[in-house]
Amino acid sequence: VLVMRHRMKSSGRWAKAEAILRELEEKCGTPTGKLRQVADAMTVEMHAGLASEGGSKLKMLISYVDNLPTGDEEGVFYALDLGGTNFRALRVQLGGEERRVIKREYEERSIPPHLMVGSSHELFDFIAAALAKFVATESEDFVLQPGRQRELGFTFSFPVRQISLASGILIKWTKGFLIEDAIGQDIVKELTKAMERVGLDMHVTALVNDTVGTLARGRYNNPDVIAAVILGTGTNAAYVERANAIPKWQGLLPKSEEMVINMEWGNFQSSHIPLTEYDQSLDAESLNPGEQIFEKIISGMYLGEIVRRVLCRMAEEASFFGDDIPPKLRNPFILRTPDIAAMHHDTSADLKVVGSKLKDILEIPNSSLKMRKMIVEICDVVATRGARLAAAGILGILKKLGRDTVKEGGKQRSVIASDGGLFEHYSEFRNCLMNTLKELLGEEVSESITVELSNDGSGIGAALIAASHSQYLEIEES
Ligand code: GLC
Repeated sequence: VLVMRHRMKSSGRWAKAEAILRELEEKCGTPTGKLRQVADAMTVEMHAGLASEGGSKLKMLISYVDNLPTGDEEGVFYALDLGGTNFRALRVQLGGEERRVIKREYEERSIPPHLMVGSSHELFDFIAAALAKFVATESEDFVLQPGRQRELGFTFSFPVRQISLASGILIKWTKGFLIEDAIGQDIVKELTKAMERVGLDMHVTALVNDTVGTLARGRYNNPDVIAAVILGTGTNAAYVERANAIPKWQGLLPKSEEMVINMEWGNFQSSHIPLTEYDQSLDAESLNPGEQIFEKIISGMYLGEIVRRVLCRMAEEASFFGDDIPPKLRNPFILRTPDIAAMHHDTSADLKVVGSKLKDILEIPNSSLKMRKMIVEICDVVATRGARLAAAGILGILKKLGRDTVKEGGKQRSVIASDGGLFEHYSEFRNCLMNTLKELLGEEVSESITVELSNDGSGIGAALIAASHSQYLEIEES
């Protein structure tokens, strides 16, 4: 009788867990029709955000980058890249049309978590000190022209209202950063002051978003690059817009016909986006409730956390892990997206990677194959929704540019440069994104559209923009 009872209890558990999983699957559903609606909504919001300041949840920020690198750039340039889990400083020696990036060096460090929620002063002091240390390691291989100040492209991957290419006010923080006293401040001024405090003589030539840097890096190699998408800790996109399609950009007569727009698509919202109770509680308990909803269901900072929330409910309501709820499972953000990716990619018959992740991270020593399979399914549902929505976002951009159909009289190619750990390392996510884009565009159009990895695009891109806007250019030209 006891055995019978135990069996019944456990089959009831599985049934309940299964029901939670099916409900998740249904709520996360992204049929093609829905994705088309998301893409259309994205296009509509792009128009609204370009029409007037505050006209849309999409900020459509003007980057002041109106000429992208061509390949002619020469000299030594520095870049700083802040905005993900890591922070890096780099330098490149550019050799012009023929020789391109001759040399590059970089140093990467993780940002101590307390600095992400501390004071502006502390954060910029840390950055300036790290940069000064890095500059001190510059060897003679890097040929700086005599008498010239070193120049820097600063990739700062948060929403910034630019005043010029080399100044901009921080609108808000995203991705787990929250440093109140920096909001509303000119980021370049903050960095410059910190550099002065450590005695570093360097000129900030460009302040750019990571999407803009990635776009520049992409264009440097390939003239068909028209947009960039970041899929990493956060998510966002930038693209090249015609200057006369930006009504809000009045008074500032464009030197050139084009302008790079930082969409800040992480803040996109639409009733067509499928949301679940897990997303709602994640959002409510986040540092920025009500904001960055698109980002919170797509990007690397959150995918693992969504999965954890699903598992929590299964543990509570279906005793998925037995009678007790594993204490570790209660820790927000304990499951990181790389863990989810590793479980999702597990091809072994007994899903041993899943087993060891459960053991190492959640301290669940014994997991059955059935349990492991269900967990992989959860990862799949959550990642698939994110990847498909990202593809819909890309379709929205292509539509805005009229590049979602085949043009008469020839093939126009469109390349989207992409960077970020999610895109680079989570192959299930990447493949799903690519396949979805194909599904949305159809065979013929999708042949002329590619999404390309632009490794470390954001850092080198910022250095390239600094080079193509160098303070010495006019002297050289005259
Ligand atoms: C967040 C930031 C945005 C950045 C993106 C990717 O969405 O707000 O500026 O581009 O993350 O790093």
